[in-house]
Amino acid sequence: MSTKSEKSIADSLEVKKQLLPHIPFLLQDLWVLGSSIDQIIEIVGSLKSLCPLTKILDLGCGKGAVSIRLVARYGFHAVGIDAMTPFLEEAEKKAAEYKVSHLCQFINQDIHEYVSNDHDYDLVLLASLGGIFGSFKNTIAKLRTQIHLGGFMIIDDGYLRKRNHLNRKGYGHYKNYNNTIRELTFFGDQLINQVDTSAVSKDINVEYLSLIKRRGEELILKHRELEKDISDYIHLQEEECDVLKNEIEGASWVIRKD
Ligand SMILES: C[S@@+](CC[C@H](N)C(=O)[O-])C[C@H]1O[C@@H](n2cnc3c(N)ncnc32)[C@H](O)[C@@H]1O
Repeated sequence: MSTKSEKSIADSLEVKKQLLPHIPFLLQDLWVLGSSIDQIIEIVGSLKSLCPLTKILDLGCGKGAVSIRLVARYGFHAVGIDAMTPFLEEAEKKAAEYKVSHLCQFINQDIHEYVSNDHDYDLVLLASLGGIFGSFKNTIAKLRTQIHLGGFMIIDDGYLRKRNHLNRKGYGHYKNYNNTIRELTFFGDQLINQVDTSAVSKDINVEYLSLIKRRGEELILKHRELEKDISDYIHLQEEECDVLKNEIEGASWVIRKD
């Protein structure tokens, strides 16, 4: 893995680079790594033009939870891109468990590199990747290159409830609602659905945090030298839960490329 990919992954998981090799251990109890999976499955189901031949692209697919559940439910073909090898291995196992291996392909690649080439998918998903492509406007500009005209982009993220800027690492792309929608539709695309995800994510985040904390304690017993890094990581996760609860309204958006 290149240093750039390593940094991007560490940022997306809010972890210091030296803790990255231990992330599979810390996150072993989670399949979904932050996205509002049930809401995404529901909104995709409401897109009438999609059929079993639909090809979806899941950027930063993690352990493949979102694509595998979509494929299992609707029979799509999915390509998932991630640069974290242990997550992709888990995705392959899960695809086999759900009996959809023949419909899923998981590629070990940096997503910046993957999207530097145009593609022709019916739907592209960016779930829980925050501002990996910068502002929402830049994100849409990238996602548009991955689908054909009339194809769909699904972003699972959120917007700021009160302010128009948040001074926290990895949160620079967040804006208030009106500015977020303005950026999402900057290129003249149609916002065709929006689902509020705050209520569900709040409970899920608390549950995930307790699982991560338990694994963190186990890891400290085995690696005393990592105690500070692990405590810092857990502290950041707690802080993130608070920020998500108090500052950010979670939302999943479906945008059609027009
Ligand atoms: C918060 S997780 C979300 C995973 C998945 N979408 C989900 O909700 O379960 C972010 C994922 O993006 C991946 N990632 C971050 N930066 C990446 C990059 N530059 N190239 C490939 N994968 C990346 C990480 O490895 C991680 O699996």
